[in-house]
This record gives sequence, C-alpha cells and structure tokens, in this order.
Amino acid sequence: MIIKASHIDKYFDQPERHQVLHGVSLEIAQGELVSIYGESGSGKSTLLYILSTLDTDFGGKLWIKDQNIKDVSAGDLTNFRNQHIGFVYQFHYLLPEFDVLQNIMLPAMKMGVKTKEQIKEDALLLLQEVGMQDFAKRPSYQLSGGQQQRVAIARALINNPDLIVADEPTGNLDQKNTEMVFDLLKKITEEKGKTVIMATHNSKIYQNSHRAIEMIDGSVRL
Ligand SMILES: Nc1ncnc2c1ncn2[C@@H]1O[C@H](COP(=O)(O)OP(=O)(O)O)[C@@H](O)[C@H]1O
Ligand SMILES: [Mg+2]
Repeated sequence: MIIKASHIDKYFDQPERHQVLHGVSLEIAQGELVSIYGESGSGKSTLLYILSTLDTDFGGKLWIKDQNIKDVSAGDLTNFRNQHIGFVYQFHYLLPEFDVLQNIMLPAMKMGVKTKEQIKEDALLLLQEVGMQDFAKRPSYQLSGGQQQRVAIARALINNPDLIVADEPTGNLDQKNTEMVFDLLKKITEEKGKTVIMATHNSKIYQNSHRAIEMIDGSVRL
C-alpha cells in the first residue's frame, strides 16, 4: 500500500471548533487511480491536504510508503513531499511570466539534485508525454485552460514522484479538456505505475476511475 490512513479525524478551530473529518480510514495501492467524490463541503480537500502531508495537525494515523508521517520532522517532511508527491490543483498555479519549459523545470531546480541540463531533458520528455512539445517556449499565460492543466501535470511529474494528488483537476475545464486531462492521469497510472488520488465532482470521471470513494459529511462510505 502506498497510502494507509487509519481513523483520521480533523477539527478546525474557526469560526468555532468543529469536526470536519470523522474517522476516515482507507488504503490505496501503488498504481491505482482513485477518485474521491461528494458534495461541496464534505471534506475532500481537507482529506487531500492530509494525505499529501501538507497538513499534519490531525487525529489518527497515516503511513505513506510505509513511513509513519507523524514520526517525520517538519524539515524532513518537506524533503519527503518533494521526493514522493506531485500536486495538481483546480487552478494550475503556473507562473505566468515563465515559459512552459521553465515552469516544468522549477520543482526539480528547487530540489537541486539533478543538473540543469538533465532537468531540461526530463522536462522535454514530459512535455511530449502530455502532448505539449510544441509549446515549450510559450509563456504559460498564452495557453488555454486545458493546455495549462496538461503542463501542470508534467510539472507534477518532474521529480518522478510515486503519488500524484489532484484536487478537482478538471473543475475548471470543458468536457473535451476534462476527458483529455483524465485520460492523461489514467495513462500515468497504467503506463508509469504512478498512483493518482483526486477529488472530483464529475461522475464520468469517478465512474471511470479504478476506484471511487464517496465522502459524506466528513466520512467515507465504504
Ligand atoms: N481552514 C478552515 N477553517 C475552518 N473550516 C474549514 C477550513 N477549511 C475547510 N473548512 C470547512 O471544512 C469543511 C470541508 O471543507 P473542504 O474539505 O474544503 O470540502 P470539499 O473539498 O469537499 O468541498 C467545510 O465545512 C469547510 O467550511
Ligand atoms: Mg475542495
């Protein structure tokens, strides 16, 4: 199992203390494409934050790649995340003044492990995989929403993470681009053995995932 979550509880203190996740347990295997669906406010984003180690203030236990996340110091957790987890959001967060290639290279440049030449080579390969090889030198603000999201997926893959966490990655796209982005996410699980966990409202997407998990009022229905 790449993810094992056991009885996760989450409380927020604002505006007053209230419980948002209620004993969420789930296991996700390497290579799975798992969708989490459910009404707005049911706790999908909150859960994804925890599963991607961005929020460690929760009750219960979480293992990612057999690492108990609560045992990892904050500094080591940043390294762990950079190495093992890629992110895709509803709004891509590409840097508009940078070109497509630079945007993809950025998380690897920050890591500082590979040479710039190596990173560039990897980024060009990823651009090809997402079908955006002709746009390497374009500033990202010139791309359509669907193109930006394909670039965001390439960026999420640049450090070769095992796990991709995507929060409503198609929430802002039309049907055609939604299918293109979904097919791409599916391809990286089936051809590269990556694990993808994503939140979505789109029934076509969750019905075509390997597994769909429904969230209702902060609980998962199994
Ligand atoms: N930072 C926060 N402070 C207080 N409440 C929050 C915070 N973030 C989310 N919530 C609440 O937690 C619940 C779940 O939100 P969220 O995880 O964003 O749901 P979803 O992604 O399914 O729409 C909502 O009631 C929301 O208002
Ligand atoms: Mg959300």
